Amino acid sequence: MADIVRTIGLSLGADICWPACYEHLMRRLDLRVPTEGGTMRFEVERIYIEPFDLRRDCKYDVVIDRLTHWYHTSREWIKKAIIMNGLYVFNNPWSLQSMEKHTSYCAMIRLGIPIPTTWLVPPKAYAQSNPDIGPTLARYAKLFDLGRLGQKVGYPCFVKPYDGGGWRSVMKCNDEQALRDAYEKSGTDVMHVQAGVVPFDRFVRTIGFGPQTYNVLYDPDKPLHDRYTLDQEFIPAAEEEHLRKVTLTINAFFGWEFNSCESLRSAGVWHPIDFANPCPDSQVTSLHYHFPWLVKAYLRWSVFCAATKRRMRQTLDWEPFFEVADGGGSYEEKLDGYARIAEERFAAARFEEFCEKHLSHLDEVAWEFFATEQAKDAVRQKVAALYPLHEVEQFTELFWSRIQKWRTDEEALR
Ligand SMILES: Nc1ncnc2c1ncn2[C@@H]1O[C@H](COP(=O)(O)OP(=O)(O)OP(=O)(O)O)[C@@H](O)[C@H]1O
Ligand SMILES: [Mg+2]
Repeated sequence: MADIVRTIGLSLGADICWPACYEHLMRRLDLRVPTEGGTMRFEVERIYIEPFDLRRDCKYDVVIDRLTHWYHTSREWIKKAIIMNGLYVFNNPWSLQSMEKHTSYCAMIRLGIPIPTTWLVPPKAYAQSNPDIGPTLARYAKLFDLGRLGQKVGYPCFVKPYDGGGWRSVMKCNDEQALRDAYEKSGTDVMHVQAGVVPFDRFVRTIGFGPQTYNVLYDPDKPLHDRYTLDQEFIPAAEEEHLRKVTLTINAFFGWEFNSCESLRSAGVWHPIDFANPCPDSQVTSLHYHFPWLVKAYLRWSVFCAATKRRMRQTLDWEPFFEVADGGGSYEEKLDGYARIAEERFAAARFEEFCEKHLSHLDEVAWEFFATEQAKDAVRQKVAALYPLHEVEQFTELFWSRIQKWRTDEEALR
């Protein structure tokens, strides 16, 4: 009987470590999923950038994309392949293109999630390329008192771009003078002024991948390689579950299948502050101990989507979320309602069943793989791309030792 082959494409940029580990794991798994007419196998290919005919076929069933948010050629090829060839891609390029941090705040405020008070302010300066800018501002831009706005928001507050990322131009302001200085410095960026969630006693990053979620205690004051901490059991199970639901809600609402959500806990309440990260950091140099989980999450969700020929949602369909938001009940009850929609959209039950049936050996294969020279080489290559030569060995060993700690902890759990 004939084999069915499903092809997974990797649309990559500076990524080095996770795709290398993903490809090695796929080879080691050598998956064969029985089908009615034979066996299904999987091939993985990296996608190259080249001119394309809009009518050209697409050989991929699923594409994992890391370029859409900044590299237009790949984004446009992906859009064409979704519309014309039925490609399944994470993440949805239209949703990424049009939904920035600001939209994500508005939408989650609409759903009743306790986002800190946030104001948007018009930019301090304008590029003069549009001749209409002068008359528009002269006629309609209202003078405003930043000091009064600061009083309304409260101190400390954070001034940050409405479409931020990578901590670009994020400024903490403890008083009015600092707020005025921050605004002066913001130039042509459109900025938010957001109430600080201060003090907070927990800062968690929840990575979501399809229906899979993973909470990491995060320390923003540490250098990059230590921000994802190694702490375990840092919040009660009920709060882990709360963050899982919040993250699934955000991701399902925007049609983002991988994303990370930053939440701060203050006085017992979780406030998400940054959750428009739909191409989340996937590098071993940030994730180290947590990196094997992420590689496995990439693999499980992409294989599931390819094997089941999952169809991309054509629209985001927000009404069911708004119906829950506008119905009665407490915040937790509404969150349950949102999470139910999200789980259904991410086919959570079907996914779990698929993993049990066809990927039950993944944990063992990954555990063995992350002891090999191939895995260590992937770590070394990423470190070599980011660190000065004299630090490469030291940091390779650091990240590798944390992955080995993960292996020891996994073994203890068996
Ligand atoms: N409202 C807030 N309350 C407390 N801390 C905040 C708040 N907003 C931002 N911060 C701090 O500033 C950091 C950067 O802000 P934020 O995450 O919003 O920016 P970003 O550029 O999107 O970052 P990322 O690189 O995570 O995408 C946060 O990790 C947090 O430490
Ligand atoms: Mg952030």
